Amino acid sequence: MTSRLLSAIPQYVFWELDARRAAARAAGRTLIDVGIGSPDQPIAPVVVEAMQRAAAERALSGYPYFKGDPAFFAAVTRYMDERFAVRLDPTRELIALAGSKEGLAELVLASVNPGDVVLIPAVHYPVYARAPKLAGATAVCVPTLPDGRLDLDAIAPDDLTRARMLVVNYPTNPTTATVTLAEYERLVAFAQRHALLLVSDLAYSELSFDGFVVPSVLQVPGAHAVAVELHTCSKSFNMAGVRIAFMAGNAQAIETLDQYRANIGYGVSTFAQRAGTAAFTHHATIVPPVVAEYRARRDALVGAFHAHGWPISTPMATMYLWLPIPAGFDDWGWVDALIAGPGVVVTPGIAFGEAGRGHFRISFVQPPDALARAAALIASVTSPVPAS
Ligand SMILES: Cc1ncc(COP(=O)(O)O)c(C=O)c1O
Repeated sequence: MTSRLLSAIPQYVFWELDARRAAARAAGRTLIDVGIGSPDQPIAPVVVEAMQRAAAERALSGYPYFKGDPAFFAAVTRYMDERFAVRLDPTRELIALAGSKEGLAELVLASVNPGDVVLIPAVHYPVYARAPKLAGATAVCVPTLPDGRLDLDAIAPDDLTRARMLVVNYPTNPTTATVTLAEYERLVAFAQRHALLLVSDLAYSELSFDGFVVPSVLQVPGAHAVAVELHTCSKSFNMAGVRIAFMAGNAQAIETLDQYRANIGYGVSTFAQRAGTAAFTHHATIVPPVVAEYRARRDALVGAFHAHGWPISTPMATMYLWLPIPAGFDDWGWVDALIAGPGVVVTPGIAFGEAGRGHFRISFVQPPDALARAAALIASVTSPVPAS
């Protein structure tokens, strides 16, 4: 038995990719997997030790606090102040999440009604489109301007009237687009004007290079009245499997999400929250080596593509390269050609919506030498592509 709403949602593209990878491995192929963006670097020892200590503490093995562990909230409040100079009231403006993907989906399910519209970027992380559908609402794609900002003027008046929420994600997975605080000011003003909840997914807040520091929407004066921001330990701290994240900002949205979750669960595992507490407490020492490794990977990958005549630009943030698929291939045709030929697994652009069609994504989830080899192998399949 499957609900009508769930049945109406197309299969998750990463499942399809998993199936193709598994089939190739079952046939004895050795693959370089740069498909899914699951960090491969180790969790910092100070975080592992905190998890071990938490596991041994009887008092932590009962049901967790619904909204969040006070120790986690204290660490996150300090982190937001140190990192962004954003002051939060931990009693009203924070909630712990078992991952920002789940949190964002739950926020949508808790906040919108059938018939409502959720505005999302045309090229998007899949949950932005899928959660509204699960809520019986409509996800409407907002086209992107050449500089990566949303073309807000392109939203149809009727969609804008029905819209309850606008989801943004800078630095962007998969396009690697970034914005300055001035763009967040424009988005906050737009949300105020149209009574929207502005939801900013800041999953890549720390993964930026060459001196670029990622801003927070909550730095905009008045943003707390219309915006929430999701942060996660998955990428910055290599903790994707721990499932710990948080949402900060608008107190009403946080209250709504808290109410929703009380009906279906028990809050986030206290062990995970203690791991998150250690991570955010020690962010200033944990993050720089993680970023240095990603920068080395980015440079190895970009350098190898350049050496093979691909005129690609260098991303300023995230852990991805987003490239046009060479002429003569469609999305799955290109993915299959790379698996069947040199044995490289990449993500097809359609995983990120129709507007992603014609591109592919490479994740920096292998050491620099393996990434350089992957680039050489990819380049060997075809001739150079035009500049991205
Ligand atoms: C933009 C974006 N948001 C959220 C997530 C998922 O984060 P989490 O592990 O916190 O659910 C990802 C993972 O790739 C992502 O790219």
